[in-house]
Amino acid sequence: MFIESFLVQSPNVKYTEESIESVYDYETTELVHENTNGKYEWVVKPKTVKYDFKTDTRVPKLGVMLVGWGGNNGCTLTAGVIANREGISWVTKDKVQQANYFGSLTQASTCRIGSFNGEEIYAPFKSLLPMVDPNDIVFGGWDISNMNLADAMARAKVLEVDLQMQLRPYMQDMVPLPGIFDPDFIAANQGERANNIIKGSKKEQVQQIIQDIREFKAKTKVEKIVVLWTANTERYSDVIVGLNDTKETLFASLEKNESEISPSTLYAIACVQENIPFINGSPQNTFVPGLIDFAIEKNSLIGGDDFKSGQTKMKSVLVDFLVGAGIKPTAIVSYNHLGNNDGMNLSAPQTFRSKEISKSNVVDDMVSSNAILYGPGEHPDHVVVIKYVPYVGDSKRAMDEYTSEIFMGGKSTIVLHNTCEDSLLAAPLILDLVLLAELSTRIQLKKEGEAKFHSFHPVATILSYLTKAPLVPPGTPIVNALAKQRAMLENIMRACVGLAPENNMILEYK
Ligand code: NAI
Repeated sequence: MFIESFLVQSPNVKYTEESIESVYDYETTELVHENTNGKYEWVVKPKTVKYDFKTDTRVPKLGVMLVGWGGNNGCTLTAGVIANREGISWVTKDKVQQANYFGSLTQASTCRIGSFNGEEIYAPFKSLLPMVDPNDIVFGGWDISNMNLADAMARAKVLEVDLQMQLRPYMQDMVPLPGIFDPDFIAANQGERANNIIKGSKKEQVQQIIQDIREFKAKTKVEKIVVLWTANTERYSDVIVGLNDTKETLFASLEKNESEISPSTLYAIACVQENIPFINGSPQNTFVPGLIDFAIEKNSLIGGDDFKSGQTKMKSVLVDFLVGAGIKPTAIVSYNHLGNNDGMNLSAPQTFRSKEISKSNVVDDMVSSNAILYGPGEHPDHVVVIKYVPYVGDSKRAMDEYTSEIFMGGKSTIVLHNTCEDSLLAAPLILDLVLLAELSTRIQLKKEGEAKFHSFHPVATILSYLTKAPLVPPGTPIVNALAKQRAMLENIMRACVGLAPENNMILEYK
Protein backbone atom coordinates (compact mmCIF):
# COMPACT_ATOMS: atom_id res chain seq x y z
CA MET A 1 0.00 0.00 0.00
CA PHE A 2 1.16 3.52 -0.77
CA ILE A 3 0.80 6.61 1.41
CA GLU A 4 1.74 10.08 0.18
CA SER A 5 2.99 11.45 3.48
CA PHE A 6 3.05 10.79 7.23
CA LEU A 7 3.66 12.41 10.60
CA VAL A 8 5.79 10.89 13.34
CA GLN A 9 4.30 10.95 16.84
CA SER A 10 6.93 10.36 19.49
CA PRO A 11 8.24 12.03 22.65
CA ASN A 12 11.58 12.16 20.81
CA VAL A 13 10.29 14.18 17.87
CA LYS A 14 9.14 17.76 17.79
CA TYR A 15 7.67 19.50 14.76
CA THR A 16 7.84 23.29 14.93
CA GLU A 17 7.00 25.99 12.38
CA GLU A 18 10.58 26.01 11.15
CA SER A 19 12.10 22.67 11.97
CA ILE A 20 11.83 19.01 12.86
CA GLU A 21 13.85 18.10 15.94
CA SER A 22 14.60 14.54 16.89
CA VAL A 23 16.48 12.83 19.67
CA TYR A 24 17.97 9.68 18.32
CA ASP A 25 19.62 6.58 19.78
CA TYR A 26 22.40 5.49 17.47
CA GLU A 27 22.94 1.79 18.14
CA THR A 28 26.49 0.85 17.28
CA THR A 29 29.41 -1.27 18.46
CA GLU A 30 32.80 -0.66 19.94
CA LEU A 31 35.57 -3.11 19.15
CA VAL A 32 38.51 -3.74 21.44
CA HIS A 33 41.41 -6.11 21.09
CA GLU A 34 41.66 -7.12 24.74
CA ASN A 35 43.93 -9.28 26.80
CA THR A 36 41.58 -11.59 28.69
CA ASN A 37 43.29 -14.25 30.81
CA GLY A 38 46.58 -13.96 28.93
CA LYS A 39 44.99 -14.28 25.49
CA TYR A 40 44.18 -11.48 23.07
CA GLU A 41 40.61 -11.55 21.87
CA TRP A 42 38.35 -9.29 19.91
CA VAL A 43 35.64 -8.03 22.19
CA VAL A 44 32.56 -6.35 20.72
CA LYS A 45 30.61 -4.04 22.96
CA PRO A 46 27.21 -2.83 21.80
CA LYS A 47 26.75 0.83 22.64
CA THR A 48 24.17 3.52 22.24
CA VAL A 49 25.14 7.07 21.36
CA LYS A 50 22.56 9.85 21.61
CA TYR A 51 22.27 12.29 18.76
CA ASP A 52 20.09 15.34 18.33
CA PHE A 53 19.02 16.22 14.81
CA LYS A 54 17.48 19.49 13.73
CA THR A 55 16.22 19.89 10.18
CA ASP A 56 15.21 23.29 8.90
CA THR A 57 11.91 22.61 7.13
CA ARG A 58 11.80 25.91 5.24
CA VAL A 59 12.41 24.79 1.68
CA PRO A 60 14.20 27.51 -0.28
CA LYS A 61 13.68 28.63 -3.85
CA LEU A 62 16.62 26.83 -5.45
CA GLY A 63 18.86 27.83 -8.32
CA VAL A 64 21.03 25.20 -9.97
CA MET A 65 23.99 26.32 -12.05
CA LEU A 66 25.50 23.63 -14.22
CA VAL A 67 29.03 23.76 -15.54
CA GLY A 68 28.62 22.30 -19.03
CA TRP A 69 24.96 23.38 -19.17
CA GLY A 70 24.76 22.95 -22.96
CA GLY A 71 26.13 19.39 -22.86
CA ASN A 72 23.99 16.29 -23.27
CA ASN A 73 23.36 15.92 -19.54
CA GLY A 74 22.80 19.62 -18.94
CA CYS A 75 20.26 20.18 -21.70
CA THR A 76 18.51 16.85 -21.13
CA LEU A 77 18.00 17.59 -17.44
CA THR A 78 16.77 21.11 -18.15
CA ALA A 79 14.39 19.77 -20.81
CA GLY A 80 13.13 17.03 -18.49
CA VAL A 81 12.36 19.42 -15.66
CA ILE A 82 10.54 21.85 -17.96
CA ALA A 83 8.52 18.98 -19.45
CA ASN A 84 7.52 17.83 -15.95
CA ARG A 85 6.77 21.35 -14.78
CA GLU A 86 4.60 22.12 -17.81
CA GLY A 87 2.94 18.69 -17.82
CA ILE A 88 4.04 18.07 -21.39
CA SER A 89 3.19 14.81 -23.15
CA TRP A 90 4.43 13.74 -26.58
CA VAL A 91 3.73 11.15 -29.22
CA THR A 92 6.18 8.31 -29.77
CA LYS A 93 5.70 5.42 -32.17
CA ASP A 94 4.43 3.36 -29.20
CA LYS A 95 2.17 5.69 -27.24
CA VAL A 96 1.53 9.12 -25.81
CA GLN A 97 4.32 9.54 -23.26
CA GLN A 98 3.97 11.68 -20.13
CA ALA A 99 6.91 13.47 -18.53
CA ASN A 100 8.21 11.71 -15.44
CA TYR A 101 11.16 11.53 -13.08
CA PHE A 102 11.96 7.83 -13.45
CA GLY A 103 15.51 7.07 -12.40
CA SER A 104 15.52 9.65 -9.63
CA LEU A 105 15.93 8.19 -6.15
CA THR A 106 14.25 11.15 -4.50
CA GLN A 107 11.39 11.56 -6.98
CA ALA A 108 10.58 8.04 -8.14
CA SER A 109 11.52 5.65 -5.34
CA THR A 110 9.80 4.75 -2.08
CA CYS A 111 10.69 3.73 1.48
CA ARG A 112 9.01 1.19 3.70
CA ILE A 113 7.37 2.97 6.60
CA GLY A 114 5.81 -0.01 8.38
CA SER A 115 3.04 -2.57 8.32
CA PHE A 116 -0.74 -2.02 8.48
CA ASN A 117 -3.20 -4.92 8.67
CA GLY A 118 -0.59 -7.30 7.34
CA GLU A 119 0.29 -5.07 4.40
CA GLU A 120 3.59 -3.32 3.83
CA ILE A 121 3.23 0.47 3.70
CA TYR A 122 5.47 2.54 1.43
CA ALA A 123 5.83 6.30 1.11
CA PRO A 124 7.78 8.37 -1.42
CA PHE A 125 11.46 8.74 -0.57
CA LYS A 126 10.98 12.50 -0.85
CA SER A 127 8.32 12.43 1.87
CA LEU A 128 10.90 11.58 4.56
CA LEU A 129 12.01 15.20 4.84
CA PRO A 130 10.84 18.42 3.16
CA MET A 131 12.76 18.79 -0.08
CA VAL A 132 12.82 21.21 -2.98
CA ASP A 133 10.35 20.24 -5.70
CA PRO A 134 12.44 19.83 -8.88
CA ASN A 135 9.73 21.59 -10.88
CA ASP A 136 10.57 24.77 -8.93
CA ILE A 137 14.31 24.76 -9.72
CA VAL A 138 15.65 27.68 -11.75
CA PHE A 139 18.44 26.51 -14.06
CA GLY A 140 21.44 28.41 -15.31
CA GLY A 141 25.12 27.83 -15.85
CA TRP A 142 28.19 28.01 -18.02
CA ASP A 143 29.42 26.36 -21.18
CA ILE A 144 32.43 26.92 -23.41
CA SER A 145 29.99 26.61 -26.31
CA ASN A 146 27.48 29.43 -26.72
CA MET A 147 24.79 27.24 -28.27
CA ASN A 148 21.35 27.92 -26.80
CA LEU A 149 19.73 25.04 -24.93
CA ALA A 150 17.10 24.32 -27.59
CA ASP A 151 19.78 23.81 -30.24
CA ALA A 152 21.92 21.91 -27.75
CA MET A 153 18.99 19.56 -27.15
CA ALA A 154 18.73 18.97 -30.91
CA ARG A 155 22.49 18.40 -31.12
CA ALA A 156 22.31 15.86 -28.28
CA LYS A 157 19.75 13.71 -30.17
CA VAL A 158 18.48 12.25 -26.90
CA LEU A 159 14.82 13.29 -26.66
CA GLU A 160 11.99 12.50 -29.08
CA VAL A 161 11.41 15.09 -31.81
CA ASP A 162 7.79 15.80 -30.83
CA LEU A 163 8.97 16.61 -27.32
CA GLN A 164 11.85 18.75 -28.59
CA MET A 165 9.44 20.81 -30.69
CA GLN A 166 7.24 21.49 -27.68
CA LEU A 167 10.21 22.40 -25.49
CA ARG A 168 11.95 24.67 -27.99
CA PRO A 169 10.08 27.88 -27.00
CA TYR A 170 11.08 27.38 -23.36
CA MET A 171 14.73 26.70 -24.13
CA GLN A 172 15.76 28.80 -27.09
CA ASP A 173 16.52 31.86 -24.99
CA MET A 174 18.54 29.93 -22.44
CA VAL A 175 22.15 30.67 -23.34
CA PRO A 176 25.04 29.50 -21.15
CA LEU A 177 27.42 32.02 -19.64
CA PRO A 178 31.00 31.90 -20.95
CA GLY A 179 33.05 29.17 -19.26
CA ILE A 180 36.66 28.69 -18.22
CA PHE A 181 38.46 26.87 -21.03
CA ASP A 182 41.90 25.33 -20.83
CA PRO A 183 42.71 23.04 -23.75
CA ASP A 184 45.44 21.39 -21.69
CA PHE A 185 42.82 19.70 -19.50
CA ILE A 186 40.30 18.28 -21.96
CA ALA A 187 40.75 16.46 -25.26
CA ALA A 188 42.08 18.48 -28.19
CA ASN A 189 38.95 17.47 -30.13
CA GLN A 190 36.86 19.79 -27.92
CA GLY A 191 38.60 22.95 -29.18
CA GLU A 192 36.11 23.37 -32.02
CA ARG A 193 33.12 24.06 -29.77
CA ALA A 194 34.98 26.47 -27.48
CA ASN A 195 33.55 29.82 -28.62
CA ASN A 196 32.29 31.13 -25.28
CA ILE A 197 35.24 31.69 -23.02
CA ILE A 198 36.13 33.76 -19.99
CA LYS A 199 39.33 35.68 -20.62
CA GLY A 200 41.97 36.75 -18.13
CA SER A 201 44.19 35.19 -15.50
CA LYS A 202 43.03 32.25 -13.38
CA LYS A 203 42.38 34.60 -10.49
CA GLU A 204 40.27 36.83 -12.73
CA GLN A 205 38.39 33.77 -13.99
CA VAL A 206 37.52 32.81 -10.41
CA GLN A 207 36.33 36.37 -9.81
CA GLN A 208 34.14 36.16 -12.92
CA ILE A 209 32.51 32.91 -11.71
CA ILE A 210 31.81 34.54 -8.35
CA GLN A 211 30.25 37.52 -10.10
CA ASP A 212 28.17 35.20 -12.33
CA ILE A 213 26.80 33.39 -9.29
CA ARG A 214 25.91 36.64 -7.54
CA GLU A 215 24.24 38.05 -10.65
CA PHE A 216 22.27 34.85 -11.23
CA LYS A 217 21.05 34.96 -7.65
CA ALA A 218 20.02 38.59 -7.90
CA LYS A 219 18.33 38.16 -11.28
CA THR A 220 16.37 35.00 -10.49
CA LYS A 221 15.69 35.86 -6.82
CA VAL A 222 16.58 32.33 -5.75
CA GLU A 223 17.45 31.91 -2.08
CA LYS A 224 20.06 29.20 -2.48
CA ILE A 225 22.29 27.94 -5.28
CA VAL A 226 23.97 24.61 -5.92
CA VAL A 227 26.66 24.33 -8.61
CA LEU A 228 27.35 21.01 -10.33
CA TRP A 229 30.08 20.10 -12.81
CA THR A 230 28.67 18.13 -15.74
CA ALA A 231 31.23 19.46 -18.19
CA ASN A 232 33.78 17.35 -20.02
CA THR A 233 36.02 15.01 -18.12
CA GLU A 234 39.37 16.66 -17.52
CA ARG A 235 42.71 14.95 -17.19
CA TYR A 236 43.99 14.56 -13.64
CA SER A 237 45.92 17.52 -12.36
CA ASP A 238 49.24 16.80 -10.68
CA VAL A 239 49.13 17.02 -6.91
CA ILE A 240 52.44 18.55 -5.91
CA VAL A 241 53.76 19.78 -2.59
CA GLY A 242 53.94 23.54 -2.79
CA LEU A 243 51.46 23.72 -5.68
CA ASN A 244 48.04 22.59 -4.46
CA ASP A 245 48.61 20.40 -1.39
CA THR A 246 47.25 22.95 1.09
CA LYS A 247 44.88 25.85 0.94
CA GLU A 248 47.80 28.28 1.22
CA THR A 249 49.78 26.74 -1.63
CA LEU A 250 46.66 26.54 -3.81
CA PHE A 251 45.96 30.24 -3.29
CA ALA A 252 49.63 31.14 -3.84
CA SER A 253 49.47 29.16 -7.10
CA LEU A 254 46.33 31.04 -8.09
CA GLU A 255 48.19 34.34 -7.57
CA LYS A 256 51.01 33.02 -9.76
CA ASN A 257 48.56 31.86 -12.46
CA GLU A 258 50.02 28.34 -12.26
CA SER A 259 49.10 26.29 -15.31
CA GLU A 260 48.35 23.13 -13.31
CA ILE A 261 45.17 24.49 -11.67
CA SER A 262 42.34 22.95 -13.69
CA PRO A 263 39.20 24.81 -14.76
CA SER A 264 37.07 22.56 -12.54
CA THR A 265 39.18 23.47 -9.52
CA LEU A 266 38.76 27.15 -10.39
CA TYR A 267 34.94 26.84 -10.41
CA ALA A 268 35.18 24.94 -7.11
CA ILE A 269 37.34 27.65 -5.52
CA ALA A 270 34.76 30.25 -6.51
CA CYS A 271 31.91 28.20 -5.02
CA VAL A 272 33.66 27.45 -1.74
CA GLN A 273 34.57 31.12 -1.47
CA GLU A 274 30.86 31.96 -1.79
CA ASN A 275 29.70 29.07 0.40
CA ILE A 276 27.86 27.49 -2.51
CA PRO A 277 27.68 23.66 -2.56
CA PHE A 278 29.80 22.32 -5.43
CA ILE A 279 29.39 18.80 -6.82
CA ASN A 280 31.69 17.14 -9.33
CA GLY A 281 29.91 14.76 -11.70
CA SER A 282 33.04 13.83 -13.64
CA PRO A 283 35.97 11.66 -12.63
CA GLN A 284 38.87 14.13 -12.49
CA ASN A 285 40.52 15.19 -9.22
CA THR A 286 38.94 18.63 -9.02
CA PHE A 287 39.17 18.35 -5.25
CA VAL A 288 42.93 18.57 -4.85
CA PRO A 289 44.01 18.54 -1.19
CA GLY A 290 44.27 22.35 -1.05
CA LEU A 291 40.67 22.67 -2.23
CA ILE A 292 39.45 20.14 0.35
CA ASP A 293 41.33 22.13 3.02
CA PHE A 294 39.61 25.29 1.86
CA ALA A 295 36.15 23.68 1.87
CA ILE A 296 36.70 22.35 5.39
CA GLU A 297 37.87 25.75 6.60
CA LYS A 298 34.82 27.46 5.10
CA ASN A 299 32.50 24.59 6.02
CA SER A 300 31.24 24.66 2.44
CA LEU A 301 29.76 21.50 0.95
CA ILE A 302 31.71 19.64 -1.73
CA GLY A 303 30.68 16.28 -3.19
CA GLY A 304 31.70 13.88 -5.93
CA ASP A 305 33.16 12.29 -7.95
CA ASP A 306 31.67 11.01 -11.23
CA PHE A 307 27.99 10.10 -11.58
CA LYS A 308 27.31 6.43 -10.85
CA SER A 309 24.78 5.91 -13.59
CA GLY A 310 25.06 2.57 -15.36
CA GLN A 311 27.82 0.02 -15.56
CA THR A 312 29.39 0.96 -12.23
CA LYS A 313 26.03 1.06 -10.51
CA MET A 314 25.42 -2.49 -11.69
CA LYS A 315 28.92 -3.48 -10.55
CA SER A 316 28.33 -2.13 -7.07
CA VAL A 317 25.21 -4.29 -6.87
CA LEU A 318 26.44 -7.45 -8.54
CA VAL A 319 29.81 -7.75 -6.82
CA ASP A 320 28.17 -6.97 -3.48
CA PHE A 321 25.71 -9.79 -4.13
CA LEU A 322 28.42 -12.25 -5.27
CA VAL A 323 30.85 -11.58 -2.43
CA GLY A 324 27.95 -11.44 0.04
CA ALA A 325 26.84 -14.87 -1.19
CA GLY A 326 30.30 -16.34 -0.64
CA ILE A 327 31.09 -16.43 -4.36
CA LYS A 328 34.50 -15.15 -5.47
CA PRO A 329 34.61 -12.80 -8.48
CA THR A 330 38.03 -13.28 -10.08
CA ALA A 331 37.76 -11.29 -13.32
CA ILE A 332 35.56 -8.31 -14.12
CA VAL A 333 35.89 -7.03 -17.66
CA SER A 334 33.87 -3.99 -18.69
CA TYR A 335 33.63 -2.75 -22.22
CA ASN A 336 31.77 0.35 -23.41
CA HIS A 337 31.18 2.09 -26.67
CA LEU A 338 29.38 5.37 -27.12
CA GLY A 339 29.15 8.11 -29.70
CA ASN A 340 28.30 11.30 -27.87
CA ASN A 341 30.62 14.22 -27.15
CA ASP A 342 31.58 12.65 -23.81
CA GLY A 343 32.77 9.60 -25.76
CA MET A 344 34.72 11.79 -28.15
CA ASN A 345 36.40 13.59 -25.25
CA LEU A 346 37.21 10.27 -23.57
CA SER A 347 38.93 9.02 -26.72
CA ALA A 348 42.02 11.00 -25.66
CA PRO A 349 44.32 8.94 -23.40
CA GLN A 350 44.62 11.53 -20.59
CA THR A 351 40.87 11.99 -20.11
CA PHE A 352 40.22 8.25 -20.50
CA ARG A 353 42.76 7.71 -17.71
CA SER A 354 40.59 9.81 -15.33
CA LYS A 355 37.60 7.59 -16.13
CA GLU A 356 39.68 4.44 -15.77
CA ILE A 357 40.83 5.48 -12.31
CA SER A 358 37.34 6.38 -11.15
CA LYS A 359 35.93 3.08 -12.42
CA SER A 360 38.77 0.97 -11.02
CA ASN A 361 38.30 1.06 -7.25
CA VAL A 362 34.58 0.45 -7.16
CA VAL A 363 34.72 -3.10 -5.83
CA ASP A 364 37.50 -2.60 -3.26
CA ASP A 365 35.25 -2.34 -0.21
CA MET A 366 33.33 -5.48 -1.19
CA VAL A 367 36.50 -7.49 -1.86
CA SER A 368 38.14 -6.42 1.38
CA SER A 369 34.99 -7.35 3.31
CA ASN A 370 35.58 -11.06 2.75
CA ALA A 371 38.95 -12.56 3.76
CA ILE A 372 37.47 -16.06 3.44
CA LEU A 373 37.47 -15.54 -0.34
CA TYR A 374 40.43 -13.23 -0.87
CA GLY A 375 43.93 -13.49 0.57
CA PRO A 376 45.86 -10.39 1.66
CA GLY A 377 46.34 -8.06 -1.30
CA GLU A 378 44.38 -10.35 -3.61
CA HIS A 379 41.99 -8.64 -5.99
CA PRO A 380 39.95 -9.69 -9.03
CA ASP A 381 41.39 -8.76 -12.44
CA HIS A 382 39.48 -5.64 -13.37
CA VAL A 383 39.70 -4.13 -16.85
CA VAL A 384 37.74 -1.22 -18.32
CA VAL A 385 37.66 -0.35 -22.02
CA ILE A 386 35.88 2.66 -23.57
CA LYS A 387 35.64 3.19 -27.34
CA TYR A 388 34.20 6.07 -29.33
CA VAL A 389 31.71 5.02 -32.04
CA PRO A 390 30.01 8.19 -33.37
CA TYR A 391 27.08 6.40 -35.03
CA VAL A 392 25.50 5.20 -31.77
CA GLY A 393 25.36 8.75 -30.36
CA ASP A 394 24.17 9.00 -26.78
CA SER A 395 22.96 5.41 -26.84
CA LYS A 396 25.75 3.80 -24.90
CA ARG A 397 26.53 0.09 -25.00
CA ALA A 398 27.99 -1.50 -21.92
CA MET A 399 29.11 -5.12 -21.95
CA ASP A 400 30.36 -6.78 -18.83
CA GLU A 401 31.75 -10.18 -18.07
CA TYR A 402 31.99 -11.35 -14.46
CA THR A 403 33.87 -14.57 -13.89
CA SER A 404 33.72 -16.08 -10.41
CA GLU A 405 34.98 -19.12 -8.60
CA ILE A 406 32.15 -21.16 -7.10
CA PHE A 407 31.84 -24.37 -5.07
CA MET A 408 34.64 -26.93 -5.45
CA GLY A 409 36.64 -25.08 -8.09
CA GLY A 410 33.75 -24.49 -10.47
CA LYS A 411 33.60 -21.32 -12.56
CA SER A 412 30.60 -19.13 -13.21
CA THR A 413 30.54 -16.47 -15.90
CA ILE A 414 27.82 -13.84 -16.01
CA VAL A 415 27.55 -11.61 -19.08
CA LEU A 416 25.53 -8.40 -19.17
CA HIS A 417 24.67 -6.21 -22.12
CA ASN A 418 23.05 -2.85 -21.60
CA THR A 419 21.97 -0.39 -24.30
CA CYS A 420 20.70 2.92 -23.03
CA GLU A 421 20.76 6.68 -23.58
CA ASP A 422 23.54 7.79 -21.29
CA SER A 423 22.09 11.21 -20.55
CA LEU A 424 18.71 9.79 -19.53
CA LEU A 425 20.56 7.85 -16.85
CA ALA A 426 22.67 10.79 -15.69
CA ALA A 427 20.03 13.55 -15.66
CA PRO A 428 17.95 12.18 -12.74
CA LEU A 429 21.15 11.65 -10.76
CA ILE A 430 22.05 15.30 -11.20
CA LEU A 431 18.65 16.15 -9.82
CA ASP A 432 19.12 13.89 -6.80
CA LEU A 433 22.59 15.27 -6.17
CA VAL A 434 21.47 18.89 -6.08
CA LEU A 435 18.30 18.17 -4.09
CA LEU A 436 20.13 16.07 -1.50
CA ALA A 437 23.03 18.53 -1.28
CA GLU A 438 20.55 21.32 -0.62
CA LEU A 439 18.70 19.24 1.96
CA SER A 440 21.87 18.26 3.77
CA THR A 441 22.77 21.93 4.27
CA ARG A 442 19.52 22.27 6.28
CA ILE A 443 20.37 19.42 8.68
CA GLN A 444 22.20 20.09 11.93
CA LEU A 445 23.28 17.45 14.42
CA LYS A 446 24.79 17.19 17.87
CA LYS A 447 26.35 14.11 19.42
CA GLU A 448 25.95 13.61 23.18
CA GLY A 449 28.62 15.60 24.95
CA GLU A 450 28.83 18.21 22.18
CA ALA A 451 27.77 21.68 23.23
CA LYS A 452 26.49 22.97 19.92
CA PHE A 453 24.68 21.81 16.80
CA HIS A 454 26.82 21.62 13.68
CA SER A 455 26.32 20.64 10.06
CA PHE A 456 27.53 17.40 8.48
CA HIS A 457 31.19 17.34 7.48
CA PRO A 458 31.51 19.54 4.38
CA VAL A 459 32.79 16.58 2.36
CA ALA A 460 29.34 15.20 1.66
CA THR A 461 29.49 11.40 1.96
CA ILE A 462 25.69 11.47 2.11
CA LEU A 463 25.79 11.79 -1.70
CA SER A 464 27.84 8.66 -2.26
CA TYR A 465 24.92 6.57 -3.61
CA LEU A 466 25.09 8.77 -6.68
CA THR A 467 28.83 8.78 -7.32
CA LYS A 468 31.30 6.28 -8.75
CA ALA A 469 34.25 7.33 -6.64
CA PRO A 470 32.74 8.80 -3.47
CA LEU A 471 34.71 11.68 -2.03
CA VAL A 472 35.10 11.18 1.71
CA PRO A 473 36.80 13.17 4.45
CA PRO A 474 40.38 12.09 5.15
CA GLY A 475 40.42 8.88 7.23
CA THR A 476 36.82 7.86 6.45
CA PRO A 477 36.05 4.41 4.98
CA ILE A 478 34.80 4.48 1.39
CA VAL A 479 31.59 2.55 0.76
CA ASN A 480 30.82 1.62 -2.84
CA ALA A 481 28.21 -1.11 -2.33
CA LEU A 482 24.98 0.41 -3.62
CA ALA A 483 22.59 -1.12 -1.07
CA LYS A 484 24.73 0.13 1.81
CA GLN A 485 24.92 3.60 0.30
CA ARG A 486 21.16 3.76 -0.11
CA ALA A 487 20.59 2.46 3.42
CA MET A 488 22.97 5.08 4.80
CA LEU A 489 21.09 7.88 3.14
CA GLU A 490 17.63 6.57 3.95
CA ASN A 491 18.49 5.78 7.56
CA ILE A 492 20.01 9.21 8.17
CA MET A 493 16.86 10.80 6.79
CA ARG A 494 14.75 8.51 8.99
CA ALA A 495 16.87 9.49 12.01
CA CYS A 496 16.04 13.13 11.32
CA VAL A 497 12.36 12.33 11.89
CA GLY A 498 13.08 9.98 14.79
CA LEU A 499 12.45 6.72 12.94
CA ALA A 500 14.60 3.65 13.57
CA PRO A 501 16.79 2.46 10.70
CA GLU A 502 15.12 0.02 8.33
CA ASN A 503 16.39 -3.29 9.73
CA ASN A 504 14.24 -5.64 7.65
CA MET A 505 13.71 -7.95 10.63
CA ILE A 506 9.89 -7.92 10.39
CA LEU A 507 9.72 -9.44 13.87
CA GLU A 508 6.00 -8.59 13.97
CA TYR A 509 5.37 -11.71 11.90
CA LYS A 510 7.89 -14.10 13.40
P1 NAI B 1 28.91 16.58 -23.10
O1 NAI B 1 30.24 16.56 -23.75
O2 NAI B 1 27.71 16.44 -23.93
O3 NAI B 1 28.76 17.91 -22.25
C1 NAI B 1 29.78 18.57 -21.62
C2 NAI B 1 29.64 20.06 -21.86
O4 NAI B 1 30.64 20.73 -21.11
C3 NAI B 1 29.86 20.47 -23.30
O5 NAI B 1 28.74 21.22 -23.74
C4 NAI B 1 31.12 21.32 -23.26
O6 NAI B 1 31.08 22.37 -24.21
C5 NAI B 1 31.12 21.84 -21.84
N1 NAI B 1 32.41 22.19 -21.25
C6 NAI B 1 33.60 21.56 -21.34
N2 NAI B 1 34.52 22.15 -20.57
C7 NAI B 1 33.90 23.18 -19.94
C8 NAI B 1 34.30 24.15 -19.00
N3 NAI B 1 35.56 24.15 -18.55
N4 NAI B 1 33.40 25.04 -18.56
C9 NAI B 1 32.12 25.03 -19.01
N5 NAI B 1 31.67 24.12 -19.91
C10 NAI B 1 32.54 23.21 -20.37
O7 NAI B 1 29.01 15.43 -21.99
P2 NAI B 1 27.82 14.75 -21.15
O8 NAI B 1 27.41 13.52 -21.84
O9 NAI B 1 26.80 15.76 -20.81
O10 NAI B 1 28.63 14.31 -19.84
C11 NAI B 1 29.12 15.31 -18.98
C12 NAI B 1 30.10 14.73 -17.98
O11 NAI B 1 29.43 13.81 -17.15
C13 NAI B 1 31.27 13.99 -18.60
O12 NAI B 1 32.46 14.33 -17.96
C14 NAI B 1 30.95 12.56 -18.35
O13 NAI B 1 32.10 11.75 -18.24
C15 NAI B 1 30.23 12.66 -17.01
N6 NAI B 1 29.42 11.49 -16.76
C16 NAI B 1 28.36 11.18 -17.56
C17 NAI B 1 27.60 10.05 -17.33
C18 NAI B 1 26.42 9.75 -18.17
O14 NAI B 1 26.09 10.48 -19.06
N7 NAI B 1 25.73 8.66 -17.92
C19 NAI B 1 27.95 9.13 -16.23
C20 NAI B 1 29.10 9.54 -15.46
C21 NAI B 1 29.76 10.69 -15.71
